[in-house]
Amino acid sequence: MDENFLIDTAQKMVADHRGLLAIDESGGTIKKRFDTIGVVSTEENRRDYRSNLLGADDLGRYIGGVILFDETLRQSLADGTKIVDLIRAQGIVPGIKVDKGAKPLAGFAGETITEGLDGLAARVEEYVSLGAQFAKWRAVIHIGEGSPTSAAITANAHALARYARICQEGGLVPIVEPEVLMDGNHNIHTCQQVTEVTLDAVFTALKAQGVLLEGIILKPNMVIAGSDCPTQAGANEIADRTVATLCRCVPAAVPGITFLSGGQSEDEATLNLAVMNETFASPPWKLSFSYGRALQTSALKMWQGKPENEAASRDAFLQRARLNSQACAGEIPA
Ligand code: 13P
Repeated sequence: MDENFLIDTAQKMVADHRGLLAIDESGGTIKKRFDTIGVVSTEENRRDYRSNLLGADDLGRYIGGVILFDETLRQSLADGTKIVDLIRAQGIVPGIKVDKGAKPLAGFAGETITEGLDGLAARVEEYVSLGAQFAKWRAVIHIGEGSPTSAAITANAHALARYARICQEGGLVPIVEPEVLMDGNHNIHTCQQVTEVTLDAVFTALKAQGVLLEGIILKPNMVIAGSDCPTQAGANEIADRTVATLCRCVPAAVPGITFLSGGQSEDEATLNLAVMNETFASPPWKLSFSYGRALQTSALKMWQGKPENEAASRDAFLQRARLNSQACAGEIPA
């Protein structure tokens, strides 16, 4: 394992108040997003939409890494420029989603296990040759009647740890993403409890597999009430509970914690991150973002699949990237 490369890369991804852009939506998810603006999900449309965002002026000031889907890592612009080179020219680290999605966990209705370990070492080798320097694997934990079970938490933690070690051996920084979903009517206490148990299991498994903690990025959910819960906490309570949970569970060796947005609005995701960084001035890890929807919702709406809207779409995206970078510095948006 090239420890220096892993440590340097992980630090670079979150340096100088930068965060990550997740544009690694799988085929089914990007179709759902395009359906909301009435655009057909063709390979060309996906390329045009994503490459427009990636070409935004000075994007590297706010974004340290971009998570791509397999198709995008292999794609080129109409003029032949590889998308991965466009990303590198911005001073941004290219990364790749390597999991094969959350599938039903046999015997545990409503719960999932993320698949993709089979053949992973060979896929990592190819992705490195295509220019990727980090990877992402998302485990999904569902809160419901009787769930999550310890079977689901243990199985997902084990898979995350095996993935992380395989990536580090192959030369990719693993983003370790255990997402406790916001779906449901559970309150913020339940989310906090489940997040704590999940993170404990994940770090136990990472240690058991000998993962170098200085060479990973953790991508967790914030501690937040379920989206159908009638009582929603304010940003101060979300910040306090989230950071308290992370302090209990995440070793100081981890260089960066980049939250997923998970269904929060753009404004909520930015505000919550800003309040965390304002309230906790020097946590042991960088507290940053790795947003998908919370960086793209306005930009996608602006685009509408029309070339004449590309500049407005880029501007909307850059504005979100800038606000989230400022949130990493503890600046509360006006
Ligand atoms: P959201 O920020 O839209 O939750 O997406 C982040 C992500 O990469 C989920 O795996």
